[in-house]
Amino acid sequence: MQVLVTGGAGYIGSHTVLSLLENNYDVIVYDNLTNSSLESIKRVEKLTSKKVKFVEGDICDKEKLSQLFKQSDIDAVIHFAALKAVGESAEIPLRYYQNNVHGTVCILEVMQQYQVHNFIFSSSATVYGEENDVPYVETMKLGSPSSPYGASKVMVERILADLALSDNKFRGVSLRYFNPIGAHESGEIGEDPKGIPNNLLPYIAQVAVGKRDKLSVFGEDFPTKDGSCERDYLHVMDLAQGHVAALDWLDRHSEFNGVEAFNLGTGNGVSVFAIVQAFEKAINKAIPFEVSPRRAGDLSAFWANASKANKELNWHANRSLEQMMTDTWRWQSNNPNGFLD
Ligand code: NAD
Ligand code: UD1
Repeated sequence: MQVLVTGGAGYIGSHTVLSLLENNYDVIVYDNLTNSSLESIKRVEKLTSKKVKFVEGDICDKEKLSQLFKQSDIDAVIHFAALKAVGESAEIPLRYYQNNVHGTVCILEVMQQYQVHNFIFSSSATVYGEENDVPYVETMKLGSPSSPYGASKVMVERILADLALSDNKFRGVSLRYFNPIGAHESGEIGEDPKGIPNNLLPYIAQVAVGKRDKLSVFGEDFPTKDGSCERDYLHVMDLAQGHVAALDWLDRHSEFNGVEAFNLGTGNGVSVFAIVQAFEKAINKAIPFEVSPRRAGDLSAFWANASKANKELNWHANRSLEQMMTDTWRWQSNNPNGFLD
């Protein structure tokens, strides 16, 4: 079975490509490298001793996509390609809607043209918005996320639902990721943010390696146990395996058409202070931090009800918080400058 992976050179994409290869899928990566480097794919090839076909291209380039679909026998598409910086999305919303929404429509059109029906979409816990109580469960109505980034994910989920109503061959899966962290246990691939990291773990890792002075903890006055925000952190390799499980689910449900959403998380909320402590324990070194004002748009706490994925996909986020920290550190300390090393 051959899978086209858009955005496959990125953080979650590269780990998923590795899992796909280990499960004997053939993989084509299609990526414009705006937020990644070809080095991630080279390392995945080295780790697996398998080849990946790489095509540099933009998901909005329908001509290039068409050529690729014409030449290749594609059975399924896993669609990671997107811009993902929440703050930036409020500054340049049109670019986000163009890339994340229009780009997805381009892929779906080309898939329809070439009669490829299996589609796995990288959605996010952000689609639950502020309206829903935790833990989030797939039967909840989608909310209204405050950022254009979040809104782009809700829009795509709506597009998939409408497409499924109009095309009874379409077989879509939306995977709603909670907070992926960590890296492959080899320390060869991991998250390599450009500039100042927006997300918690890459920031802590850069403090630990001496690239940043101290962490700012955004708020300690939330209505949580220790006052800092709580999130559902899961290991990126568990998340990667969730995509293999979703392909397997589509394969087992040959009669299925429509779109099905699954939460991919551990089901546990962990606070920012608890993450700092866990990281300090893993590396046996203190992480300097200061408490700063809340970050705009941050919700106090959310985590997944992951029972649907546990039961139907036969998938569990098994790796421990300790392993998430150790693997983050192995990647960061072996590659202080990311893939530039
Ligand atoms: P990433 O930035 O590391 O990977 C995205 C990849 O897509 C990059 O390699 C980038 O170069 C590529 N890309 C972007 N726009 C493209 C375009 N127009 N054409 C071709 N390639 C393009 O991000 P990630 O963390 O690996 O996220 C992957 C997906 O998962 C995204 O859709 C993201 O919104 C979603 N997601 C991520 C998180 C997270 O915490 N990382 C959480 C929920 C959902
Ligand atoms: C962010 C996105 C969310 C996206 C998710 C994917 C925002 C507002 N939300 O979520 O849309 O789906 O990534 O993983 O960006 N923190 C600090 N100091 C830092 C960085 C973060 O204290 O330097 C705190 C944050 O306030 C938050 C927690 O750490 O409570 C996690 O932050 P982050 O990694 O950015 O993820 P989310 O905010 O959950």
